[in-house]
Amino acid sequence: MNSVVISGTGLYTPKNSISNQELVESFNAYVNKFNQEHAEAIRKGDMEPLQESSAEFIEKASGIKSRYVLDKEGILDVDYMHPHLPERSNEEHSIQCEMALVAAREALEEAGRSPSDIDAVIVACSNLQRPYPAVSVEVQAALGVEGFAYDMNVACSSATFGIQAACNAIQSGTAKAVLMINPEICSGHLNFRDRDSHFIFGDACTAVLLERADLAKVKGYEVLGTKLQTLYSNNIRNNFGFLNRCDERGVGAPDKLFIQNGRKVFKEVVPMVSDMIQAHIAEHGIGAQDLRRLWLHQANLNMNVLISKKVLGREATHEEAPTILDTYANTSSAGSIIAFHKHKEGLDEGALGVICSFGAGYSAGSVIVRKL
Ligand code: COA
Repeated sequence: MNSVVISGTGLYTPKNSISNQELVESFNAYVNKFNQEHAEAIRKGDMEPLQESSAEFIEKASGIKSRYVLDKEGILDVDYMHPHLPERSNEEHSIQCEMALVAAREALEEAGRSPSDIDAVIVACSNLQRPYPAVSVEVQAALGVEGFAYDMNVACSSATFGIQAACNAIQSGTAKAVLMINPEICSGHLNFRDRDSHFIFGDACTAVLLERADLAKVKGYEVLGTKLQTLYSNNIRNNFGFLNRCDERGVGAPDKLFIQNGRKVFKEVVPMVSDMIQAHIAEHGIGAQDLRRLWLHQANLNMNVLISKKVLGREATHEEAPTILDTYANTSSAGSIIAFHKHKEGLDEGALGVICSFGAGYSAGSVIVRKL
């Protein structure tokens, strides 16, 4: 069976960033407007007033200080509260394709590769801009890659599931080099009028180039193993689909946007993920003391602190379990790859680490890597 290496990674970060303060100001202006407009019903007790959000709560509960977004104006516009991302003609690149190209080209450059060296493209993310033609096929054509491409969605775990799919193809010989890309426009599925979750997400795109180890031009990281798990849960859900469209702001249909029971997710996913990582490293004869770095999914700082503590048996340093949540927020499947991309240097040859994602489904994925 062919060995697989991660020979390059890439990241697209949108230009605009929204601080907690800016987001909360807009949200609270919406709340005050809503409460004024419904003052009579609220006074009569027919309606509950909406409650204000707070920047302090957001940072304390999640570790998020700001998030990058494709469109700032529409999100902060109290009368719109949704990104302005107009539909494009069939002749233009989709937004996800544009994001993917930036991240993919960076990954190719790091690996010393050109598109002609690649034989498969996987676009793996939580929300696809359209059902078909697959976004991955558009990216494949825009890059000039021969071979095949397909899209896949396992919500926040899409990247680790995509890495396993790429590894399977390379190990079995159906591909030699696979670009696995995660264009996440999370601002498009976020309900910016929902106090419980309006602060959670940001936009970004990551790319991972996986190659047959004996052909790779750079050392990178060897993939020692992947482990995936899914367990059905309604605690993170989005009912949007082609049978039940709503208007683009999701007005009157909040269940067609992201909804979650965050407290339950926190409680149920922390043990699921730490058990999975522990079982995975044990299967490979690796002890917790052998792990140098955990590149965890970036949803909530407190969750990551707990998971790394459970896995390592002690608190992890920032270097051992890096977070990018403060500036990126939750970027769904891109999160653990952003952490890997920004914090993959500084490890000695032979050092072991785990890339791990988790999210809706529930779904969770663990990828054990060794620095070459
Ligand atoms: N501003 C101020 N207060 C807020 C608020 C906001 N935006 N949102 C909620 N609150 C309040 C609640 O009303 C509640 O008040 P109460 O104690 O008086 O009832 C209190 O803060 C705690 O709310 P809760 O929802 O229990 O907060 P939490 O500590 O669980 O944090 C999350 C919320 C979402 C940050 C956290 O649950 C989380 O990150 N969970 C995991 C989510 C996850 O991983 N999801 C995967 C997504 S892909």
